[in-house]
Amino acid sequence: MPFRPFFCAIVSFSLTCTLAMHIKRSSSCQSFSSTFPVSSVSSRSSSDDVPTSPFVAISPEGSYRAGNDGLELFLQRPDGHITTRGGANDKVADGATINSTFTLLYGKVTYEVLSPLVAGVVTAVILIADEHDEIDVELLGGDPSHWQTNVFAPSPEDKQPLWGVFSSIEDVPAAKSPDASINDFHKYSIDWSADRIVWGVDGKSVRTISREQTRKNGTLHYPSHPARVQLGIWDASTPVGTAEWAKGPIEWDKAPKMMTAIIRSVEVECPNF
Ligand SMILES: *[C@@H]1O[C@H](CO)[C@@H](O)[C@H](O)[C@H]1NC(C)=O
Ligand SMILES: *[C@@H]1O[C@H](CO)[C@@H](O)[C@H](O)[C@H]1NC(C)=O
Repeated sequence: MPFRPFFCAIVSFSLTCTLAMHIKRSSSCQSFSSTFPVSSVSSRSSSDDVPTSPFVAISPEGSYRAGNDGLELFLQRPDGHITTRGGANDKVADGATINSTFTLLYGKVTYEVLSPLVAGVVTAVILIADEHDEIDVELLGGDPSHWQTNVFAPSPEDKQPLWGVFSSIEDVPAAKSPDASINDFHKYSIDWSADRIVWGVDGKSVRTISREQTRKNGTLHYPSHPARVQLGIWDASTPVGTAEWAKGPIEWDKAPKMMTAIIRSVEVECPNF
């Protein structure tokens, strides 16, 4: 019976193959989308050891609100007197930060976001790994007609973090109106594969960086660890270099006491294996 072993080999090969593909797919990327109903975000203090919600808040419960047609992220003025000296503030506001409880290793994430227009405030929708790999979309409240992209993965050879090295500034598309800004909803996307990252806005690709282009000083700085979706708003009013980048520090005598970024939706699309 020469046929049988051959047949078994085929069957077992294809079974193993199917199983391996299935495991790879489900552990590295699950397609997902949310418009942030109340139950989508649990507070970190909630008693579940492993939250069953897709998102968990890192910041206190009052720092965000889900369920009102999106996720509102708040940044609140610090208490007391705030002094600005040498281009930085002596107090920094706490802003909301939300993590996904799932991770993905490669896939496309689309964030629909509106940012407040206050200089010194940064709205960040990113992918971040425990190993500190990051792929970023950042909206600077002081630069309404642009958005920034960045990628960062530390190498043991680095003397210092290469925060600014792979960043880039993009235009907010003016298709809808000539004064389009980050204060309108736009869809920002990060399409991440093993060999390149493509950033896009409103369905149009605007920047690609290849794995090889992240080589600096002989080592690669390409994100390659499972990453969480992280959504946040933060006060970039110190130190001076950060405040300068963000066109801050925040001028609290003019700025509202509370600022809000809104994430209307997040979608994860998985690569086709
Ligand atoms: C949020 O994500 C960061 C980056 O991966 C991680 O260091 C942190 O532990 C996460 N926190 C929670 C509560 O998930
Ligand atoms: C460049 O890499 C070498 C090791 O290959 C390391 O000793 C050196 O500190 C690195 N330089 C910088 C600027 O990171």
